[in-house]
Amino acid sequence: MNENTRQILVTSALPYANGAIHLGHMLEYIQTDIWARFQRCQGHECYFAWADDAHGTPVMLRARSEGTSPEELIDRLNEEHKGDFRDFGISFDNYTSTHSEFNRQIVEKIYANLDAGGHIARRDIEQLYDEQEGMFLPDRFIRGTCPKCKTPDQYGDSCEACGSTYAPTDLIEPRSAVSGSTPVLRKSEHYFFRLSEFEEPLKEWIASGALQPEIANKLQEWFTDGLRDWDISRDEPYFGFRIPGTEDKYFYVWVDAPVGYAASFMELCEREGLDFDAWWGPDSKTELHHFIGKDIVYFHTLFWPAMLMGAGFRVPTAVYAHGFLTVDGAKMSKSRGTFINARTYLDHLHPDYLRYYYAAKLGPGTGDIDLSMDDFVQRVNSDVIGKVVNIASRCAGFIGKRFEGRLSQALPRPDLMETFLAAREAVAIDYETRNYQSAVRRIMALADEANRYIDEEKPWVQIKQEGKADHVQAVCTQGLNLFRVLMAYLAPVLPFTAEKSSQFLGTDVADWSRLDQPLLGDTLNAFQPLLIRVDPVKIEAIIEASKESLQPSAEPGPEPEAEAFDPLADEIGIDDFLKVDLRVARIVSAKSVPEARKLLKLTLDIGNETRTVFAGIKSAYDPADLEGRLTVMVANLKPRKMRFGTSEGMVLAAGPGGEDLYILEPDTGARPGLRVT
Ligand code: MSP
Ligand code: ZN
Repeated sequence: MNENTRQILVTSALPYANGAIHLGHMLEYIQTDIWARFQRCQGHECYFAWADDAHGTPVMLRARSEGTSPEELIDRLNEEHKGDFRDFGISFDNYTSTHSEFNRQIVEKIYANLDAGGHIARRDIEQLYDEQEGMFLPDRFIRGTCPKCKTPDQYGDSCEACGSTYAPTDLIEPRSAVSGSTPVLRKSEHYFFRLSEFEEPLKEWIASGALQPEIANKLQEWFTDGLRDWDISRDEPYFGFRIPGTEDKYFYVWVDAPVGYAASFMELCEREGLDFDAWWGPDSKTELHHFIGKDIVYFHTLFWPAMLMGAGFRVPTAVYAHGFLTVDGAKMSKSRGTFINARTYLDHLHPDYLRYYYAAKLGPGTGDIDLSMDDFVQRVNSDVIGKVVNIASRCAGFIGKRFEGRLSQALPRPDLMETFLAAREAVAIDYETRNYQSAVRRIMALADEANRYIDEEKPWVQIKQEGKADHVQAVCTQGLNLFRVLMAYLAPVLPFTAEKSSQFLGTDVADWSRLDQPLLGDTLNAFQPLLIRVDPVKIEAIIEASKESLQPSAEPGPEPEAEAFDPLADEIGIDDFLKVDLRVARIVSAKSVPEARKLLKLTLDIGNETRTVFAGIKSAYDPADLEGRLTVMVANLKPRKMRFGTSEGMVLAAGPGGEDLYILEPDTGARPGLRVT
């Protein structure tokens, strides 16, 4: 560390613990991760502290509908979320839950400080109450007819037909979405945070440049409308932290949710021996950057900084809002199969593809981002594979086969190297300012130059010519050094491919400080294919799987209490089941498909005929161990054309995937062709 080393804490918004992670969430988490990784590439001390948002009515109700406890539900989803993020290469330093003792401790401290400072008011309010369930109803759990346009079945806070907003008590014929009964008005005491007392310090904070210009403008509007007190309490039953000094009142989920940023960091401090107060105290010299979606700006730019100010903590250095993800030009939709869960994507495609695509589309603003599936395939294949990875594969072959892996002692075109290194500053500014699309454009322009150089030199021609061997070695050395710079610039975006490149080149490509020393005279490690092309068939498979997917997930929406919880899983009848022709099959041969990460090519004997099936079980089986064994296959699946041939069916296997995957095997005595009933 030196005096230029910055100390940076980065956060992403905490996903609700009542649903699966989807590609909309991933837009934010990839955006955050690229920024954090970029900071580490520069040698800065950068932490990413994160958690699940575990509290609130939707979590409580979802647990209830599943016949489980909220604690059990949030633990299960915590594991799932963490697994999704890890597999997407999100480099969080700590992942916890807002339902933790650290969080309780900090929330109680903040509340005590706010109360002592006179910032908490208490007064009675009237709200709709479900007598059957014995609970007050959040706006989103009340449905009824819109008072303006008379459209039936609208939420308690706004009408989806005419867009008007109103109080739940304005609804005509209101019903509880929990029990269906007619709610009644009931009075109870609520606690309020006096936000308006912070108007001046908030304005000062905004003037410090913490916000994007469009967000700062939005805030001006809110100030003009006047800041209102914020209701921070909820009555029992509620899943959350009880407010000290009360018997039956809880902190509203949005009180303890952002505090989760600090609590997660505190956990990290305990583990790594960092000084929490140096980071969160009022005079902290460190930086705190929050990445969020534009739907939760109000919470992060008014309530949260005001709470921190009132409680004597530091305020955020910056809050960055991004837009929403659309898929093929429309809102993500379960019926179209474009509501894609992170896990569904990962089951079929490499994480670096999506990371690249998002990077190529993300700018510093709050505009929405479209994931166009055709464009996705085309861009990843032409840029990442066609331009960048291709340089390495073209040059590595010659160096490996003809020069025993050894690089030449000098670069034939040091000027080209200079050009590449000269881009460093501009690329860094792009990343720093979250203009990833600009960074990617610059890097791809350099990749074009590198390819042009190799195309002009034509090492594949020169290698056959007398006396050109040394030159070919130098050209490929030049190519690999250019590749190394490109990979360094892309390391925040493509962590998996960068890691493989580091292994091959024998240097950490993510360390930008090493870039000034070219790789000369080194012996490289064996070249492993870095990343293969996106197979468009996989996209169809993802869309199909998402149509079938019954996993409940949080629908994006403006109102934080609005998380959807799916009531019923779909059932199928026996007729549906009988449509599937399951047969006992003998695996006659099993071969690895070298170009595919997961696939084995199986030849299956099902009695009167032989089938070829591509099965994604490579990570779990050595092909030789499968030959001769019996398994079960779906024999009437529509044949699927794949890049390596046509797959005529599917073998059945159990398990989450990777090594933890088991093909099904019938009992002894079964023979190929027997139908499974
Ligand atoms: N739990 C709150 C955040 C609390 S932070 C102290 C929440 N959770 S969420 O699961 O609904 O969303 C988490 C983040 O994902 C939010 O920043 C949200 O904007 C973002 N996104 C959710 N759906 C999204 C898209 N479809 N597109 C882009 N971002 C989206 O809000
Ligand atoms: Zn209406």
